[in-house]
Amino acid sequence: MKAADIREKFLKFFESKGHTIVRSSSLVPGNDPTLLFVNSGMVQFKDVFLGTESRPYSRATTSQRSVRAGGKHNDLENVGYTARHHTFFEMLGNFSFGDYFKRDAIHYCWELLTKVYGLPADKLTVTVYQEDDEAFAIWENEIGVPKERIIRIGDNKGARYASDNFWTMGDTGPCGPCSEVFYDHGPEVWGGPPGSPEEDGDRFIEIWNLVFMQFNRDVQGNMTKLPKQSVDTGMGLERLAAVLQHVHSNYEIELFQTLIKAAARETATADLTNNSLKVIADH
Ligand code: SER
Repeated sequence: MKAADIREKFLKFFESKGHTIVRSSSLVPGNDPTLLFVNSGMVQFKDVFLGTESRPYSRATTSQRSVRAGGKHNDLENVGYTARHHTFFEMLGNFSFGDYFKRDAIHYCWELLTKVYGLPADKLTVTVYQEDDEAFAIWENEIGVPKERIIRIGDNKGARYASDNFWTMGDTGPCGPCSEVFYDHGPEVWGGPPGSPEEDGDRFIEIWNLVFMQFNRDVQGNMTKLPKQSVDTGMGLERLAAVLQHVHSNYEIELFQTLIKAAARETATADLTNNSLKVIADH
């Protein structure tokens, strides 16, 4: 399935669930001095989460152009070392502004992955924030994920709420516990499940992050409850494309191969065999 079809299916799925399709915002945030570049789909909705802006819809879906090359979410150091980082990417997302919360977010996620995209359930592992018994119970009892494949992740980054499973946009702003979905690319790829010593390998790749927006963090680090519980999800289009196109590296998906081949053709510096292109892609 081509990236364009994957994007279309995502947006149409959420439209069928009552979401308004909203255009990607500019990469440079319009009114947010805390960010140089948009780093995720929720940025254009930040004030809606905070309750200081209202929109004519309570459910939205986007495919947002994002850059992670500095600041709190910086992928730059990982480029060239992993199969999954490239600083500029598209983030597919669905958002609830005080409408549905954990239960529907998790059910929509599973339905889309397993029914629409047809991913085998046994290739998927999920994480929840250590204290989030509610999300754990939804995954286990309502979705039927075996509990060995629901991993609790606590404050593993040295401070309260500093966790792979507690998402913050930057130093301040809306934030909350999250639940992530990982795809297992198979034992031939090095890496281990989330929370294991080998988690940074490329075997188990995070494809989707469901954030349960509950707090606003101020400059002193104080957390106050948001006026409404909301949902912000983000799935890397290129990571999902790698899974659906049965390749391991994002650089091997059709979207990037087209660009890499065009660059090689225009610069005429590469031997245009598939093999050498793969070498370029791998590096
Ligand atoms: N904001 C979350 C993330 O970037 C989910 O969209 O992972």
